[in-house]
Amino acid sequence: MTEPLLSVRDLTVEFTTHGHRNRVVDGVSFDLDAGRTLAVVGESGCGKSTLARTLVRLETPAAGSIRYAGRDLATLGEKELRPVRGDLQMIFQDPYGSLDPHLTAAGIVAEPLRLRGVSGRGERRKLAVELLERVGLTREQADRRPSEFSGGQRQRIGIARALASRPKVLICDEATSALDVSVQAQVLDLLRELQEQEGIAYLFISHNLGVVREISQEIAVMSQGRFVEQGPTEQVLSRPRHDYTRQLRRAALDPALITGRKPRLFAPATSAGAVS
Ligand SMILES: Nc1ncnc2c1ncn2[C@@H]1O[C@H](COP(=O)(O)OP(=O)(O)O)[C@@H](O)[C@H]1O
Ligand SMILES: [Mg+2]
Repeated sequence: MTEPLLSVRDLTVEFTTHGHRNRVVDGVSFDLDAGRTLAVVGESGCGKSTLARTLVRLETPAAGSIRYAGRDLATLGEKELRPVRGDLQMIFQDPYGSLDPHLTAAGIVAEPLRLRGVSGRGERRKLAVELLERVGLTREQADRRPSEFSGGQRQRIGIARALASRPKVLICDEATSALDVSVQAQVLDLLRELQEQEGIAYLFISHNLGVVREISQEIAVMSQGRFVEQGPTEQVLSRPRHDYTRQLRRAALDPALITGRKPRLFAPATSAGAVS
C-alpha cells in the first residue's frame, strides 16, 4: 500500500474567546489520495472552514497530525512550512473578498508565480495568461480588474491563482455556493477536468448535497467539530447511518439532487415561494 497524499489524524483546533476555550475541530481523521475528492458537509458553524484553514496552516492545531510528503504540517513553523505552502491551496466562497481589487486578473495570477520563483515580469505574464485561458477566460480579459468580472469569472480567476502554485491538494471552501446553478455546473466541470489532467486532490466543502454527490467519491459529515459519518458518497447519501446525516438529507431542498433521479411527474407550482 502506498501512503495517502494527505493523512490527517485526530486533528483538534481550539479558540479561546473571553477566557473560554472552544474546541471547534474535535479529533478529525481522514486520508486523501491524489486525484480524489473528499467532500465535507455539515451545518453552518460546525467547523468546516476552521478545518480547511488549519490544513493550509492558517491556524495552528491544538493536537493531532497532518502528514504530507513525509512531514507533519501540524507541528511545522512558518519557515519550515514555506516550501510546502504552494502544494496546499485554497479557494473561497467569496472570490471578490479574496482577490486584490487593484490588480488585474493577470497580475493576481502572476503573484504566486513570483513566489514560486518564476523570474522575469514578461515570463510571469505569459504563464498567467495561459493559466487564465486554461480556466476559460480570454487573453483580452487578462488586463481587467476583479470588479469587471461576474461571480463565476471571478471564481475562475481564484482557481487560476491557485493553479499557479501547482497545488497537489486544493481545498474548496463553499467555492461554488455563491454561484447560479448553471455557472456552478461550469465551475464544477472545470474542477473535474483539472483533477483529471493534474491529479489534484480536492477537499470539497459544501452544504449542497447535490453538488457533493456530483463531485466527490467520499464524504465526511461534520457536526459540532467532529466527523460523525464518513464513507463512499453514494453509500452515505443513500443509506445514512447517523441521525444527523438523515436530518441533513431531509433538510436538502431538492430530493432529486440526492437520489440522482429526476421526479417523473413535475407537479405544477401551486403556491408562491417556489425555489428560485
Ligand atoms: N478565529 C476565531 N476565533 C474564535 N472563534 C472562531 C474563529 N473562527 C471560527 N470560530 C468559531 O468556530 C466555529 C466554527 O466556525 P467555522 O469553522 O467558520 O464553521 P463553518 O465553516 O462550518 O460554518 C464557530 O462557532 C465560529 O464562531
Ligand atoms: Mg465556513
